Amino acid sequence: MTKIISGFSKMTKQEKIDWLVDNFFEKPILAKETLQQYWNSNRVLQELHDDFIENTVSNFYMPYGVAPNFVINDKAYVIPMVVEESSVVAAASLVAKFWSTRGGFKTTILGTTKVGQVHFMYKGDSEGLQFYFDKIKPQLLRATEAITKNMRKRGGGIIDIELRNKTHELAHYYQLHATFETKDSMGANFINSCLEAIANEFRRSDIEIVMSILSNYVPECLVRTEVQCPVDDLYKENAQYYAEKFVQAVNIANAEPHRAVTHNKGIMNGIDAVVLATGNDFRAVEAGVHAFASRSGSYKSLSNAEIKNGVFRFWMDIPLALGTVGGLTKLHPLAKLSLEMLQNPSAEELMQITASAGLAQNFAALRALTTTGIQKGHMKLHLNNIIKQLEASEKEKAFLIKYFENKTVTHNAVIEKYKEMKNFNL
Ligand code: MEV
Repeated sequence: MTKIISGFSKMTKQEKIDWLVDNFFEKPILAKETLQQYWNSNRVLQELHDDFIENTVSNFYMPYGVAPNFVINDKAYVIPMVVEESSVVAAASLVAKFWSTRGGFKTTILGTTKVGQVHFMYKGDSEGLQFYFDKIKPQLLRATEAITKNMRKRGGGIIDIELRNKTHELAHYYQLHATFETKDSMGANFINSCLEAIANEFRRSDIEIVMSILSNYVPECLVRTEVQCPVDDLYKENAQYYAEKFVQAVNIANAEPHRAVTHNKGIMNGIDAVVLATGNDFRAVEAGVHAFASRSGSYKSLSNAEIKNGVFRFWMDIPLALGTVGGLTKLHPLAKLSLEMLQNPSAEELMQITASAGLAQNFAALRALTTTGIQKGHMKLHLNNIIKQLEASEKEKAFLIKYFENKTVTHNAVIEKYKEMKNFNL
């Protein structure tokens, strides 16, 4: 069977593509052309991207947009966003402008602690284990000294190591729960290296180390972002009514997981876009954020809203383990550019910026949902995509955009109008 192959990773890029298109595509030449279309003509740049992962055969472009007019802690930012959903950057820009004249976003770092664990099995008595741990703890820290040297110079390192008895959750299961400060780096490699050194030192014939790995659940690497203004400044008409409806929408997301997931997805539209643009790990952020949203035992809204003494306040606490050094942040030319656009923030500042982009997105979604509904704005933007699929000329495009200015956009309606326009030469 030619569809199973050994030694694939050792083949040249060209050989890989040949094998791939010959075995999995009905039109191999077309498939090859499509892959090659996205190669970068700058050889050095292409090689850089080839080396990010194994078996690279092409590049997958995502739009790189910018949302201007974000005011965060009285500082103006243009936020880079990498996202494919048509309404996201538009919504962020609109909301950023809106809040820029109402005091902007105010943020606070609530913590920067990260976590890693050595998971192990031990069948002896737990008191003996605790005695062994207390005795060996200074040695565990010493075993990481070479790894933590540079980090300690920057004010980071291992904060503490605890022995945790987890045998009530799983027979014979214990862990070394270590906490870290990783300053401007996300710290995954640093934490994992420390944990492996700790595990090696801790190992004993009656201790079976199962694994040593950081945790992407970082409830103590937390940032708060918030906006507030008098209710009357929030809407042009019926401000109290719509502000209360907005708060009710947040209450619903707190009460009902189905809604909470979509509510939080809207927040992640903003978060992921900035995380991607700055070369950070969006899977780690996603996993950690959703676990945090479930910390009470049921999945809830990440954001909160209230009206008190005529003032509307909207805020969110969100765990974000981000880095501005290490990883792809300086390696990917666009990630580097994004950080420069953000005035080379520290990791803490990047947490604040990213969280604000998320809150802005949530504000845009809730404001639309509780007033005009989401589809009006969405479909207006989607109109461009539909027109593109039709391969309409510039003149036809202008006609369709004008025609749908005050009409509801649906996929069918656009296609029908397009056909009609063609038939009647409108
Ligand atoms: C769409 O990407 C995001 C929304 O569904 C978020 C929400 O419902 O709050 C609009």
